[in-house]
Amino acid sequence: MYDPKTGKALELRLEFPDGLPKQPAFAEGIRRAPNRGQILNDEDLVLALKNALRYIPEKYHKELAPEFLKEYMEHGRIFGYRFRPAGKLWGKPIDEYKGKCTEGKAFQVMIDNNLDFDVALYPYELTTYGETGQVCQNWMQYLLIKKYLEVLTIDQTLVLQSGHPLGLFRSHPSAPRVILTNGLMVGMFDDPDNFRRATAIGVANYGQMTAGGWMYIGPQGIVHGTYNTLLNAGRKKFHVPEGHNIAGHLFVSSGLGGMSGAQPKAAEIAGCAAIIAEVDPSRIDTRYNQGWVSKRTQSLPEAFKWAKEAMDAKKPLSIAYEGNIVDLLQYALDNDINIELLSDQTSCHVVYDGGYCPQGISFEERTRLLAEDRDTFVKLVNKSLRKHFELVKALVAKGTYFFDYGNAFMRAVFDSGVKEIAKNGHDTFDGFIFPSYVEDIMGPILFDYGYGPFRWCCLSRNPEDLKKTDQAAMDCIDPKRRFQDHDNWVWIRDAEKNKLVVGTQCRILYQDEEGRMKIALKFNEMVRTGAIGPVMIGRDHHDVSGTDSPFRETSNIYDGSNIMAEMAIHTFAGNCARGMSLVTLHNGGGVGTGRAINGGFGLVLDGSERVDRIIRESMSWDVISGVARRAWARNDHALETAATFNAKRWDGHITLPYIADDAYLKKLVADNK
Ligand SMILES: NC(=O)c1ccc[n+]([C@@H]2O[C@H](COP(=O)([O-])OP(=O)(O)OC[C@H]3O[C@@H](n4cnc5c(N)ncnc54)[C@H](O)[C@@H]3O)[C@@H](O)[C@H]2O)c1
Repeated sequence: MYDPKTGKALELRLEFPDGLPKQPAFAEGIRRAPNRGQILNDEDLVLALKNALRYIPEKYHKELAPEFLKEYMEHGRIFGYRFRPAGKLWGKPIDEYKGKCTEGKAFQVMIDNNLDFDVALYPYELTTYGETGQVCQNWMQYLLIKKYLEVLTIDQTLVLQSGHPLGLFRSHPSAPRVILTNGLMVGMFDDPDNFRRATAIGVANYGQMTAGGWMYIGPQGIVHGTYNTLLNAGRKKFHVPEGHNIAGHLFVSSGLGGMSGAQPKAAEIAGCAAIIAEVDPSRIDTRYNQGWVSKRTQSLPEAFKWAKEAMDAKKPLSIAYEGNIVDLLQYALDNDINIELLSDQTSCHVVYDGGYCPQGISFEERTRLLAEDRDTFVKLVNKSLRKHFELVKALVAKGTYFFDYGNAFMRAVFDSGVKEIAKNGHDTFDGFIFPSYVEDIMGPILFDYGYGPFRWCCLSRNPEDLKKTDQAAMDCIDPKRRFQDHDNWVWIRDAEKNKLVVGTQCRILYQDEEGRMKIALKFNEMVRTGAIGPVMIGRDHHDVSGTDSPFRETSNIYDGSNIMAEMAIHTFAGNCARGMSLVTLHNGGGVGTGRAINGGFGLVLDGSERVDRIIRESMSWDVISGVARRAWARNDHALETAATFNAKRWDGHITLPYIADDAYLKKLVADNK
């Protein structure tokens, strides 16, 4: 490629005219990813080395090949540590980045925010959250992506496949600036074993959702969803009236990691007492120091005593229990303690890759076994999951409301050999005996209306901009329209007070189609008038549309189409066609390889009228594609929402189903078989 203005050729491969960067120094106290084990045979290992060396000029291969081999032997992956820029990465104010368009600079802010020491789970291993969710596969890709983003113009689109920047291609100003995919595999290979091999040889990236989609905003991203889930679980189970919080009740769960770390914060905002088990003390340190969990202890009697005091006083309190969730549940059962709300947020989508620490071993022992004795590790994981299930079952029998919180816990239990957790006792087609939070709560109460995890980042990193956007968003909500709007209005009213920001100045706010569009247009106008700097809006992939995931986002789709992945693909394609700035499609997400296809978007608000147009067209599509699918699946609230859409809009129409009489059909089939 050459620069048409200067005529000068642009070499966009990595070059190191002054020699290779120095070996990195690893900062003390930064959490490191475990060794994922050496699973490659010799032929594959050669392939892995050759693949990594594709990024490096040939003259350095002899120097780097042994280094990459060592990385593989020590980590099970080649990260190219040497190419990580030294020191702390963070999402700097947008003006400090080089670039030829706002989008090119905005994406650099988002990428660096995903890799911030304060934000990322394993920053040196490019892992943002969810044990294995990476921005891209290695630091060579990171450098190359940055290089491309610095020269990207509004007439081009950058294409990435599993973190690899394939190149810049001509498009037009209203096309996406980046289209990326992560971990998509051909059906017959789409399973965790093939994925593990593909990752180790350097051709697949596990993007989770917003890690590889560059829209992660710290644990805040999941706080609002967890808050909504807890509030509505309380309303459903304890008949707490709408408009009230769940003070005086107890929530127990596990995990204080990237996303799970949101649980104590959400519980306190919802007003209840919460005990969250966590086996890794360093993650407790992080959340405790950030003020996201209020107390910590290694003693179960103490944890439950504190919780009881808070419940009696109807005061919110979050407690980190340093230990295994299975031990906690055993203690509660043995001591006849009533756990009212129970969930789990260990990384069960990758139980055999370190996501779940088995009962009976320490966190250090888990890390050692994972690297040195995988067979024993797998056996211990399965044994622990079976025990975990027995305890949950016993507690549920005593009145506990257990819900799967989207981490594939029930699927992992099933895979460990417990067929009883499947509704039909032999496969997972009919779902599980315990509800997923989407089936019981988030699906019918939020997604079917179009409410989902809309979010924005103030790219200036200026807290004043965030304040102004909070106020503007609040002004766009009518708290009297529905109880969900009231909850969201309270959420945004208190957002600043609740100190949710970690990293760049971002905000999450559940909104429906109408709300998202209103807010986006308002923000773009504010950028236009200079009231605020540029903003990037987007959403979690975990939303109304965008994700086909039968164990999670689409677990409340009951027409049999929950095994199809067409909604996710169409949402992705439609967002590309309508010109979202960044459009992404991934395999796996929160539940694991082969179990979900999920996509997301980012739209950079630069104040232009072009962006107003994109907001009107694409923000509506992005939500309504999911509502339409949910309505066709005969979900009540989606039917209502779709009917309103049809009645109010001149520019679109959703196909609605005729509803057959279920009882009549059952009888017809029974009588005639
Ligand atoms: N429902 C949602 O919206 C949603 C969103 C994001 C992620 N998830 C899923 O939730 C899970 C957690 O995500 P994350 O980003 O927090 O992952 P993470 O790996 O950062 O955190 C999980 C934590 O669980 C701890 N842990 C593991 N085994 C344990 C045990 N037996 N007892 C106590 N603690 C234990 C780990 O030490 C770790 O800190 C993942 O499976 C992820 O895919 C769900």
